[in-house]
Amino acid sequence: MLPSVLCNLSNIHDHATTTLKQCGGTFLFKGPWFTNLNYLITSDPMNVHHITSKNFDNYIKGSEFYEIFEILGDGIFNTDSHKWKHSRNILHSLFRQNSFESLVVKTIHKKLHSCLVPLLNNTSELGTVVDLQDIFQRISFDNICSIVLGFDPKSLPNKLIEFPEVAFEKAFNLAEDAIFYRHLVPRFLWKLQKWLQIGRGKTYTECEKIVDQFLHQCISSTFQEQSKVKCTKDDDEPTFNMLKALVEESGMEQIDRKFLRDNALTLLVAGRDTISSSLSWFFWLVSTHPVVEAKILEEIRANFITKEEYRLITSRVENLNKLVYLHGAMCEALRLFPPVPFEHKSAVKSDILPSGHRVNANSMVIYSLYSMGRMEQTWGEDCLEFKPERWVSEKGSIIHIPSYKFIAFNAGPRSCLGKNITFIQMKIMAIALLCNFQFEVVEGHNNVCPCVSVVLHMKHGLKVKVTKRGIIN
Ligand code: HEM
Repeated sequence: MLPSVLCNLSNIHDHATTTLKQCGGTFLFKGPWFTNLNYLITSDPMNVHHITSKNFDNYIKGSEFYEIFEILGDGIFNTDSHKWKHSRNILHSLFRQNSFESLVVKTIHKKLHSCLVPLLNNTSELGTVVDLQDIFQRISFDNICSIVLGFDPKSLPNKLIEFPEVAFEKAFNLAEDAIFYRHLVPRFLWKLQKWLQIGRGKTYTECEKIVDQFLHQCISSTFQEQSKVKCTKDDDEPTFNMLKALVEESGMEQIDRKFLRDNALTLLVAGRDTISSSLSWFFWLVSTHPVVEAKILEEIRANFITKEEYRLITSRVENLNKLVYLHGAMCEALRLFPPVPFEHKSAVKSDILPSGHRVNANSMVIYSLYSMGRMEQTWGEDCLEFKPERWVSEKGSIIHIPSYKFIAFNAGPRSCLGKNITFIQMKIMAIALLCNFQFEVVEGHNNVCPCVSVVLHMKHGLKVKVTKRGIIN
């Protein structure tokens, strides 16, 4: 089956979706005999419910996942059993703290008003075409670094100059490509390349070094600063520092640099690409669906009457929940374009899935989050259409869809810890941008399609023309 994958590599997610539809939602992928590329692939929600929740203990990340994502070390993404549980408990209690949520809101507002809005104002004055995806990646990177490391790498400028290249960010992107490559080639081949330091193996090692250096610098400066006695406290200074909170919450007596490095890197990976990818698809869908755009603006207008009120409302998280249609539009974008397009698990013992398919011990199971959002059985005949209405009940509240069907944030005990802050960030950004600007996808740039990687970015970016608008009096 490998040749068919290689021939369809450029549109692998749609190819997998078509095959899954033809096979009733589950099939066994068989690679050549000399490789270990044999996977059971599924998009059946009942199978996914079984894997992620009902028989959770049987489906682990496993050693193969650990090797592929070795750059993440022992961070929460990469571990199982007690190591995973330990990180999950610590992060879960950090994410629940009000001071953490306030830091997220403050960071986004600051970056929006100091950089993104001025930059788009400047862009609209000059009439220049910009890549919105690049902009979202930069702002998400600056935000997540500020939140997790207390350091803003300032990769997004506030006016239209040549965008700075941040070595850490570039290394991050290249490492991501190398990780995807490891999914496609036999294990011995990528291991050999790494050992010989050739091709992607060499790139990967170089990237890892840059990432390590950057993180160690941030960790060192955080804890050096802690020892300085501060006489005055800046009003604007955040009261929450993720690295310090990780140390406090885990009860470690000495700074465990590896624990901090691995978990900080995991949070950077979790919080940058996912948010920038979902913002890009959301803005593309909204800009190309004027009726939806008009409804979102109408909802904002109806809720936020004056500028003062708008500022007040968007800085209070509970007020964001009033925007039900906007929430529906975001869920719809995440359904059609989940930033994490597939997940893989390793079976500890043999098992039978609800669909009747057998899973052998130590074999790999993949579920396609991308395909799951495009199944007629779950979403109806109009499953390929962008319809925020499908999330809104007759009474005007959000319709809850179980996470094993709306899978973008994963399901069960390993579901995403950042779901709440994701919606907060996306809504604050969407309100600020849609109220102040109109985005027109440039003509001839209709070829918006996903790239082939572990995160569902747009292959050719999102080229738009920006014009100003003011919907709030
Ligand atoms: C659109 C935004 C996001 C999406 C679609 C998303 C999706 C996901 C998915 C699919 C997983 C499961 C990954 C796996 O098991 O391999 C996951 C886990 C996780 N996410 Fe998110 N995520 C988003 C944003 C965030 C943010 C902003 C953070 C925090 C900075 C975050 C933190 C985490 C953590 C810590 C886990 C690990 C949970 C565990 O293994 O127990 N996510 N996310």
